Amino acid sequence: MNPEFGFSGPDFLRVRELIATYAGISLHERKQSMVYNRLVRRLRATGTRSFREYLDWVEAPGSEERERFVNALTTNLTAFFREPHHFEMLARLARGRPGARLRVWSSACSTGEEAYSAAIALREAGRAPEILGSDLDTEALATAQRGVYKIAALEPLGAERLRTHFLEGTGANAGYACVRPELRALVKFAPRNLLASDGPAQERFDAVFCRNVMIYFDRPTQQRVLDRLAAALAPQGLLFLGHSESCAAGHPAFRFFGKTAYERRDG
Ligand SMILES: C[S@@+](CC[C@H](N)C(=O)[O-])C[C@H]1O[C@@H](n2cnc3c(N)ncnc32)[C@H](O)[C@@H]1O
Repeated sequence: MNPEFGFSGPDFLRVRELIATYAGISLHERKQSMVYNRLVRRLRATGTRSFREYLDWVEAPGSEERERFVNALTTNLTAFFREPHHFEMLARLARGRPGARLRVWSSACSTGEEAYSAAIALREAGRAPEILGSDLDTEALATAQRGVYKIAALEPLGAERLRTHFLEGTGANAGYACVRPELRALVKFAPRNLLASDGPAQERFDAVFCRNVMIYFDRPTQQRVLDRLAAALAPQGLLFLGHSESCAAGHPAFRFFGKTAYERRDG
């Protein structure tokens, strides 16, 4: 079957260049049909006649479509208590610093599960942390802000945690649960691009989650993001990376701490 819109090699190359510029994402050359499937929905929704016209629009100065283009190309897979050892390390860090103000940054938080998991782990350690959840994808962030999840996605939490931290919906909301206000109050969400030099520059966090996003970046971009995260972490703060990400090994600001976790060196 012929595709609905022509998507030539040069169109794909242009998409790869644009998403690398806007988000740092290095799209593999084998992803052409995935990219077509994700962007064709935007062409249909906006009544655009060709990829060339669409990409001209995305590239135009101040384009309101650019955000939707980026949102369409991000991969948002996440889960509550994904890689649970990091939340155990975070709770241990909290117990080792009784009374201290605790600040955590979930820096590619997607739909919020990671930020809320950190909040749960720290509440269970008897703390009331300040958590920032940020992401480049504004649609994912809107879901995070809402804090409403399918019960099926909450099953890994177990019945006790579900009861303590969520309110189950009834009637039209059956099958969904929302984050309880006490938990919600610990987490703020804001759009942030890991590539941008603005953002929480003056803020110093005790722990930063930057998981399962470095895999989309090339090496120079990873180093640039690591420099930024090093600046955002307090000495002895912890950086958590994804299960297949080891790029902080060898960075001068970090020392190995434990399974895909790194400690910020002093200075
Ligand atoms: C696979 S999800 C990972 C979510 C969560 N950290 C986890 O490990 O479960 C990757 C997230 O990184 C975000 N992302 C990609 N590029 C980004 C950038 N330059 N700045 C901030 N977030 C970015 C995507 O929007 C997506 O939500």
